[in-house]
Amino acid sequence: MLVAGNWKMNTDVPEGRALADAIAEDLSSASSDLGNVDVLVCPSHVHLPAVLDALADTPVTVGAQDMHAEDEGAYTGDVSAPMLTSIGCDAVILGHSERRKYYDETDAEVNAKVKQARAHGLVPIVCVGETLEQRKAGEADTVVQNQVDGALSGVSIDGPDDLVVAYEPIWAIGTGESAEPEQAQEMHAVIRDDLAGRYGGDVADEVPLLYGGSMKPHNAYGLLSQPDIDGGLIGSASLAAESFLGIAEKAVEVLAASED
Ligand code: 13P
Repeated sequence: MLVAGNWKMNTDVPEGRALADAIAEDLSSASSDLGNVDVLVCPSHVHLPAVLDALADTPVTVGAQDMHAEDEGAYTGDVSAPMLTSIGCDAVILGHSERRKYYDETDAEVNAKVKQARAHGLVPIVCVGETLEQRKAGEADTVVQNQVDGALSGVSIDGPDDLVVAYEPIWAIGTGESAEPEQAQEMHAVIRDDLAGRYGGDVADEVPLLYGGSMKPHNAYGLLSQPDIDGGLIGSASLAAESFLGIAEKAVEVLAASED
């Protein structure tokens, strides 16, 4: 199970540092045991050194929210995979719907970035998801499958540490209206099938599939207990240690219940 926070463009650096410190402090308390739940935070590029430092002695890993597909060059304002790995980043969110919407990022660009992440040992967290109009038109499955196929075309993976896919229905992001657990499960099963066709069932079964879109402590248990939901990509609830780790605690509970 993986609980990942996408801080988006929130907090200044001292505030982000304080948030990371609060996460570290909560995790160091005797009552806190994440068991087999992995926790990842993805702050802005500017925050990364401070957040990496704050979380250095914790099990929490740190990722970025985007990066360029080239190693280096005249790309003013951009950040490369070697820059991220050189400071200790483990993962990178790619193809988030906000980047597709506001920066016109295409599946081909996401695909190039996924290949670049793989080439540099960063775990790509590939985001996919449909709009409300697409869902109402009965196109959700096709839209999501096309995004998965576009992002992963020509991408080889060998195991669960090489890829994460996050299903984030656009209508659920930042709206407070999460998908119903069964609704999210249906799409996760579609994605799992797609991955099985591409990489074989054994690998597909182990690739973490995250749900994202208004996941909070109060709805996390229902979502995370679905068979094909392996964690969450959390936006606004990741901006406070209490709600973020509250979701991680739900993940711990789900795992404990599944072992009973
Ligand atoms: P919210 O949890 O704020 O809906 O954001 C989800 C998201 O976009 C994570 O990447």
